[in-house]
Amino acid sequence: MDKENPAANAFGNSIIIGSDHAAFGLKEKIKTFLMDRGFQVEDAGAESEGSVSYVDYGKKVANAVSKGQFPRGILLCGTGLGMSMVANRFPKVRAALCSDVFSARMSRVHNDANILVMGGRIIGDVLAFELVRTWLETEFEGGRHLDRIQHIDL
Ligand code: RB5
Repeated sequence: MDKENPAANAFGNSIIIGSDHAAFGLKEKIKTFLMDRGFQVEDAGAESEGSVSYVDYGKKVANAVSKGQFPRGILLCGTGLGMSMVANRFPKVRAALCSDVFSARMSRVHNDANILVMGGRIIGDVLAFELVRTWLETEFEGGRHLDRIQHIDL
């Protein structure tokens, strides 16, 4: 365990984050939250609250995780629904839309989720930070769950 960054587990400390306009503000806050904890954060956009398509930013982040350029990613849009739909089309991406701490934890323990998705119009900042912290600190259990996730990709 890295003493400077206890959330930097076996996946290391780099992470890519993206949002659309609807969650731009939350993305900026989560970036600060992560950088304050020693993470190297790659910001895939959006750059402002000006209207954009979540699809473009979802694809950027999911593609980077799918190709192994980043071990983990975070995606945010208004509901999280659009980002989930986009991200989960990419091979080896397991994107988990979470709005409660139990789901965030279990998405790691049982599903080895490599992208955390949240809805900026659904949850508040403090809950979002708690989901991020929990998700980053929780390890995959492996075992029978490894067999199961290996059957997800078509
Ligand atoms: C943008 O208005 C909204 O559609 C988007 O943020 C997201 O919620 C889509 O799923």
